Amino acid sequence: MHMDNVRKLMELLKDYDLNVWKHSIFVMKFSFEIMKRLDLHRKEVTNILIGSLLHDIGKLKISKEVINKPGKLNLQEWDEIKRHPTYGGSIINQYNINSGILPLILYHHERWDGKGYYGVAGKHIHFGARVIAIADSVEAMSSERPYQKVKDTKEIFMELLNNRGGQFDPDLINLLFKIESNNNQLIFSNNLAKKQRILEKLISVSRNYDSNVFYSGGY
Ligand SMILES: [Fe+2]
Repeated sequence: MHMDNVRKLMELLKDYDLNVWKHSIFVMKFSFEIMKRLDLHRKEVTNILIGSLLHDIGKLKISKEVINKPGKLNLQEWDEIKRHPTYGGSIINQYNINSGILPLILYHHERWDGKGYYGVAGKHIHFGARVIAIADSVEAMSSERPYQKVKDTKEIFMELLNNRGGQFDPDLINLLFKIESNNNQLIFSNNLAKKQRILEKLISVSRNYDSNVFYSGGY
């Protein structure tokens, strides 16, 4: 069964690397927070939640030394890391996960400006993969990593704003924070401090690993 296999894969991931598992739960929850602000069909929400959980499942095939390497990766290691979306795609095929999840996994490292892993740009990137890319980056910026110090909420908020149209889908970022903009220039009446507090709340909600909305919420 489809959902049993999702659960099975998440258990494998938890055993393989607890940090990647925690990262994936966060991404699922944060994606959910983004989607709450959109009017999406239930089936699409479910697919994006599953895609969020499994987006890094290909890391099962990447050596732990590379995943957890403190310091910069060399070219060869970087090459290996970049294969995880493709590996993820073959794993979910093997486990008979609904084919609607495939583009979410393959393209979660694409950037709006086309400078991501495969060079897909803008609306050509599957919608769910654009949602996951935002949640993925928020988790990465807000957690301790061997190669970077944790960014505070204000820094993360500014990164999201400044990368609208660069790394991230500008409409999704605007929607997430109810930002009004003119040709992507912020309109000054926006209360940025208040929006930053919203982000702080979303991050803390998504960091709660105990109440797993996905497994208990009937999706
Ligand atoms: Fe990834």
